[in-house]
Amino acid sequence: MKEVSQMAATLIGSEIIKLAGEIKQKIAEGNKIYNFTIGDFDSAIFPIPELLETEIIKAYREGYTTYPPADGEMELRKAVAVFSRKYYDLPVTYESVLIGGGARPMIYSVYATLLDPGDTVVFPVPSWNNNHYCHLVGAKPVFIEALPEDNFMPTAASIEPYITQARLIAVCSPLNPTGTVFSREELEKICDLILAENKRRAGKEKPLYLMYDQIYALLTFKETVHYNPVTLRPEMKDYTLFIDGISKCFAATGVRVGWTIGPDAVISSMKSILSHIGAWAPKAEQIATARFLNEEAALETYIENLKKKVLFRLDGIHNGFQQLRSEGFPVDSISPQAAIYLTIKLELKGKITQEGEVLETARAVTAYILDAAGLAVVPFYAFGADEESPWYRLSVGTCTEDAIQGAIDSLRTALKRLR
Ligand SMILES: Cc1ncc(COP(=O)(O)O)c(C=O)c1O
Repeated sequence: MKEVSQMAATLIGSEIIKLAGEIKQKIAEGNKIYNFTIGDFDSAIFPIPELLETEIIKAYREGYTTYPPADGEMELRKAVAVFSRKYYDLPVTYESVLIGGGARPMIYSVYATLLDPGDTVVFPVPSWNNNHYCHLVGAKPVFIEALPEDNFMPTAASIEPYITQARLIAVCSPLNPTGTVFSREELEKICDLILAENKRRAGKEKPLYLMYDQIYALLTFKETVHYNPVTLRPEMKDYTLFIDGISKCFAATGVRVGWTIGPDAVISSMKSILSHIGAWAPKAEQIATARFLNEEAALETYIENLKKKVLFRLDGIHNGFQQLRSEGFPVDSISPQAAIYLTIKLELKGKITQEGEVLETARAVTAYILDAAGLAVVPFYAFGADEESPWYRLSVGTCTEDAIQGAIDSLRTALKRLR
């Protein structure tokens, strides 16, 4: 007899966590590992904003230690509305804002609020965790393989065949794992598709919603621009659930403050689900985040500095990959656009190691570069892409400045040993 539910028994573990176990083992054995696998920050390199830290401590001392309101502290909901109007040009007021303990509970409650078992969710792969959220609520996933020539983003044409059956389309821009973004034109086309479909349904069927995860939106580099559906198509306001929070853009993954912005009826149901789970953000962190978001100068200085440090690392490794490519090695990388990720390509399948082992699969390639170069990166198949995809996510959240050249040199040595 099973001790846990069918759902729990069949929930698959994260590939990244599996890989993390192997890396830990190698480090414990004394190996030098360039661990670029985790989508988190080393707080010694990327601390949270000083003002946020000060305000968190202050808020605890001021006694903000009891239950927060179920939809979040009013002060924070208002601050999020102002922040979203200012940086994303979103026409929102606090009524549309729901606060929770990071982005994850918000994503879960979007799924739990909108989907009945068997309902269809369409999302691109590679992408982060949509398959697991589908599993949690019993929804039917439709994976769309996003292509490098489309910047790894889904296109309207790739979504269209599933549009009449979909209940939710889940997208993310800037995207984890690729660090790429939607173009204005493609996002407009996707919005138009959703609006046309909702017109067709005209109240006779459940509406089609778009979950738009923009948790990396302030981390765009150079000429890259972040677009959002509601600014491009105001009618999308009735169908869009924004996922956002402080985890990534303020390097505050452990502080646990996230939010959703969306239509009133959906937000109101999400609030009930969240309050039964109790997945609120701690009250003191909410107060502190509100005070921080209201301090424009501190916020902008922090973002500017964070972007500079992240881009230095992404550019450094990208340039290193381009150098290796120009030396004739079968590797590549996509010029950094956003987030803390670099998309790299390792076309090493079929190569033979010095020990005579043929690298026959993407798994074997991953293992080889971990063993021979000490380079730990996450293959795109861990994000639902094809098992044999030659693409990988390289995260710089824990990357020291020294590691940039060190990792490239170490990779070069390992590549030279292949024939
Ligand atoms: C795209 C995306 N959304 C949401 C999250 C989760 O954010 P949080 O830590 O606030 O739950 C992550 C974390 O890696 C992410 O990459």
